[in-house]
Amino acid sequence: MKLLQAIKVGTKTLQNSMAMAPMTRSRANDDGVVGNSTEIYYTQRASAGLIITEGINISKQALGSPLTPGIYTQAQIDAWRKITNAVHEKAGVIYAQLWHTGRVGHSLVKNGELPVAPSAIAIQGQQHFTMEGMKDYETPRALSTVEVINIVQDYKQAALNAMEAGFDGVELHSAFGYLPNQFLADSANQRTDQYGGNIENRNRFVLEVMKEMVNAIGSDKVAIRISPTSLYNSIAHQNPVEQFTELISELNKLPLAYIHIMNVPFPADKFPHYPANSVETFGKLTHHTIIANFAYTKEKGEAELEKGIAKLISYGALFLANPDLPKRFELNADLNQPDRATMYGGQDKGYIDYPFLN
Ligand SMILES: Cc1cc2nc3c(=O)[nH]c(=O)nc-3n(C[C@H](O)[C@H](O)[C@H](O)COP(=O)(O)O)c2cc1C
Repeated sequence: MKLLQAIKVGTKTLQNSMAMAPMTRSRANDDGVVGNSTEIYYTQRASAGLIITEGINISKQALGSPLTPGIYTQAQIDAWRKITNAVHEKAGVIYAQLWHTGRVGHSLVKNGELPVAPSAIAIQGQQHFTMEGMKDYETPRALSTVEVINIVQDYKQAALNAMEAGFDGVELHSAFGYLPNQFLADSANQRTDQYGGNIENRNRFVLEVMKEMVNAIGSDKVAIRISPTSLYNSIAHQNPVEQFTELISELNKLPLAYIHIMNVPFPADKFPHYPANSVETFGKLTHHTIIANFAYTKEKGEAELEKGIAKLISYGALFLANPDLPKRFELNADLNQPDRATMYGGQDKGYIDYPFLN
């Protein structure tokens, strides 16, 4: 089975071609510091070829949701160090997903500060989780050009902090409507400076972040996650094929570890200009290793690898509920079902108590 074959990614040889997709679990403390349960959670899943952590806030400003972890204070870095050590002891490989939520937040979870974004355009038709319940999105504050340049530096520092914390690499969360994705999308970015306007300008933020991180931590340790067809968080592209083709062609010039593509379904009748299959359309354009994601089963994952474009499959909910997922695939064993009620926040129930096979 291709899913169970070892593969070289970045500077590491992975024990199989299955990645654990990044999943926010909202179990850090109020200071964004992860604890013992998080160490157990990731260590239990160390048989994944690659663990990609939950989104980790790169700065105080980056935070959008309660109890999500950070990597910008010494206490946060030290806590992650324990986790990377424990995962490495189990022969696992672990990348940190670096996160800035941009407008996907609320002043109620940001000490009264408005969320920031490329432009002052609010997310419509969705609400945001706060400790005071679900709230409509506020209109974010548009970032000044200098602030954007400073956020690029925050990513660079976060990548350096991730190295200090012992991670094997970092993945830029440029998918699902968070800050980098907001810069890419014309629906969220109507800037008139060098970070908005045409495709080259809308790609600039992501490319600057990627270049800074590569320069800071070196070749084959920096990766990116994209979701060209996702509509979540009010993201829409007038011309996603041209936009992401250009982005990939620029990313091809950098020594990256991988490109992680979320192949998100969308209503084709409403978005006829969207590519039917992002893995095929964009994966073919790059020499970088492709990780494919979204609703894969064992069979669908294996079939995707057989096509030869994606070299790994990442599994989210299945890894959440099955700490020993590779073993279960190998033995064709039954799978635990994920419990939606305990996905975000709470204690150890639904976090570290999913059973292993006997
Ligand atoms: C509880 C939960 C939290 C998630 N948090 C993140 C996240 O922090 N960063 C991210 O890029 N994707 C996040 N996702 C999306 C997953 O990485 C993945 O793309 C999605 O679950 C689809 O893959 P799957 O069908 O294998 O679960 C999350 C998904 C779940 C279920």
